[in-house]
Order: sequence, then structure tokens, then C-alpha cells
Amino acid sequence: MIITIDGPAGSGKSTAARLLAKTLGIAYLDTGATYRALTLAAMQRELNLADEAALADLAGRLDLHMEPAETGTVVVLNGQDVSAEIRTAEVTDKAHHAADSPAVRAVLVTLQRRIGEELARRSGGVVAEGRDQGSVVFPDADVKFYLDASPEVRARRRYEEMAARGEDVSLQQVLEAIRRRDQRDRSRPAGPLVRPPGAIEIDTSDMTVEQMVSELLRWVRRAR
Ligand code: C5P
Repeated sequence: MIITIDGPAGSGKSTAARLLAKTLGIAYLDTGATYRALTLAAMQRELNLADEAALADLAGRLDLHMEPAETGTVVVLNGQDVSAEIRTAEVTDKAHHAADSPAVRAVLVTLQRRIGEELARRSGGVVAEGRDQGSVVFPDADVKFYLDASPEVRARRRYEEMAARGEDVSLQQVLEAIRRRDQRDRSRPAGPLVRPPGAIEIDTSDMTVEQMVSELLRWVRRAR
């Protein structure tokens, strides 16, 4: 079984995908981690992130492993656990170079499909989460979700996560960053954030994590 969850930053899709996968006893695939890991690899090599050809070439040679873990995914780049490093504000800020490049996306989409199909074979299913999972990567998925929430709610969620990690940001800065990311996510030429045809749309603004997961489960059980 392949389940896709797409949506903007802060819509709750990572938490929902991880918990849904855990409840169903299937694998979880965080595709944002592939864009983040590539960005980090390029930064380590001091590559010019605006050089699309160099970035796509590096994407094709990426030594990347993703292992499911209790807290999400352990991301191993060149044998090093970079799970925390790929989540820093710097990588988050720079990941758009990789995400906006059609040449890079062509490579990473193929990689995501391969990893997703392998995980589904091994675990009986996969929940793939990102921006283009239901539209581009797994258009034939068994169940597709599109999660959304108001920008203010999404900014508050991100702000609380960042504050908990001790990052020094204001709610207003996070809201502005969310708006910029939305704009980029929705307008990129390849793999833009869209509600995939046939996706179940859920507004998570007023939902707790438990409510969100039980709503997704209800739809999955109905589809089975
Ligand atoms: O979801 P996350 O914040 O980890 O995504 C990291 C970056 O990768 C973001 O810039 C996001 O727009 C991009 N992304 C993407 N397609 C995906 C998943 C993430 O373009 N399937």
C-alpha cells in the first residue's frame, strides 16, 4: 500500500505521516530530507548552490541512506548521521536551490520512487510525505492526502518547534518565512505544491495531532 501526504510547511504532514505509518506498521518516507541532504552535501563541498548542473550531478552521486527511527528518520550522508544538521535554519533556507531545479528534481524523484517502492516491498507499505508525492512521485498511490492549515497556525507550530530547540526567532519572522516558502513551493516550474487529483483534503488548523491521525486512519481503513 502506498499512501501520499502532501502539503505546505507546517501543515502537520510530517507528524501525521510518521504517526500514521507507525499505527499501520508500515514505512515512512520523508522526501524533504533528500532535498535537505543534497543541500548539506553541496554546502560541505562549497559548491555554488545556484549551479544547477553541478547540483544535479552531485544528486546523482549522493551516498544517502534513510533509516526509520522512533523520532522520524535517521539520515546518513557519506556514512555520517546528519539528521540534526539537515534541519538547521541555514539548510532550510538554502534547500530551495535544490527544490527549484527541474534537473535536480528529476534525479531526486527517481531516487524517492526507488526508496519508496523498496520500503513498501519490505514493510508492506509506505507513507510518502512531501510536496509532489501524490502528483509526481506516486501518481497511482492507493490513498492521497493533502493537508493544509492557515499560515498563522502553521507559523505558530514552526515557531514552537524552533523555540523548543532553543532557536532565537520571532513569530513574525517565522510567519514571513512561511509565506516566502509557500510562494516558492507553489510557483516552482517542476513539482510545485498542488492538491493532487483525487487527494483527500484536510484542514488541520483546529485539529490536535491525535485528531489528525485518527481522521487519516479513518480514510485509509475506508480505502482498504
Ligand atoms: O518538508 P521539508 O521542509 O523538509 O522540505 C525541505 C525542502 O524541500 C523545502 O524547500 C521543500 O519545498 C522541498 N521539498 C520539495 N519536494 C518534496 C519535499 C520537499 O520540493 N517532495
